[in-house]
Amino acid sequence: MSEHRCIITVGLEIGGRTPAADILDDAGFDWTHSYGGPHWEDDATRVALRGVSAILAGSEHFDATTLEGTDALQAIARNGVGYDKIDLDYCTNRGIVVTYTPGVMADAVADLTFALLLAMVRHVATGDRAVKAGDYNVPIGEDLPSMTLGLLGCGRIGAETVRRAKGFRMRVLVHDPFVDADSLQQMGVEPVDRATLLAEADAISLHVPLSADNANVVDAEFLGSMKRGSYLINTARGGLVDETALINALQSGQLAGAGLDCQASEPPVGVSAQLVGLDSVVATPHSGSLTITARIRMAQMAARSIVDVLQGRVPEQVVNREVLEKLGLKPS
Ligand code: 8YV
Repeated sequence: MSEHRCIITVGLEIGGRTPAADILDDAGFDWTHSYGGPHWEDDATRVALRGVSAILAGSEHFDATTLEGTDALQAIARNGVGYDKIDLDYCTNRGIVVTYTPGVMADAVADLTFALLLAMVRHVATGDRAVKAGDYNVPIGEDLPSMTLGLLGCGRIGAETVRRAKGFRMRVLVHDPFVDADSLQQMGVEPVDRATLLAEADAISLHVPLSADNANVVDAEFLGSMKRGSYLINTARGGLVDETALINALQSGQLAGAGLDCQASEPPVGVSAQLVGLDSVVATPHSGSLTITARIRMAQMAARSIVDVLQGRVPEQVVNREVLEKLGLKPS
């Protein structure tokens, strides 16, 4: 028996392969699989983590409540790029290394961004419902090259979205104070301030991580400043959007549609359920990274991070880098 036991809470088999399990097996670690996801109650997390050295984690909460009783935990390797459900300060104080999987899912999420955009602009979902009901009409759509796409945030996923937008010959505006204007211009996009983004874009796509500072950033004022009849796409986090304000904007015609891969509550209940029930909303079940290629790469990256931590090396993708010093590990 290995001195380390790991737990995997995301899908184990991907396209006939078991990439994470294979990597942990090769390293000689014991592992168990227990599907977590958004339904996993905090109590289940707390119990599952007893005696566990590392978790290859889905969307569970990791904070003082769930981690208090852990006695062996050294690593939380997020199978994803978001870490808004993890209390990083707490993990750092406890010496728990938190890793994530940036980059490898950028193609998948950027693809879905365009799936949602085209589904709205060319009335794909409406048309599907119409044809199945024996109706043969949809409203007139628009060509993407005649539209301006606005991105709020331009990290790895935003950059892949830009590539696709350029392929569609769209004008692209980007508001991202963390990326310098020169790099954006080299990508062929126009760096703009927030007011210009909202006023000039025919569709705005969100590509920022959710943090305490930007919860509900898409509020009534934001939506009211967008171009009348424009579209919103959210493949990032439901918490970025004030859903009641979005319902009002859609019902008043201020927005023509919203493409939402994530909602404030998942699966949607209450206001979120009301929102996704609107005909002007095209919704998907937080499946932005759900492709075989992305999920294999994510699982491999997360599993390798676990092996690195448990074998005393510094993984490439550490989120809470302050923890390295605390553990006496030399940052790479
Ligand atoms: C998750 C996500 O990867 O990257 C993220 O943070 O939002 C998702 O794509 C997915 O829930 C699997 O854990």
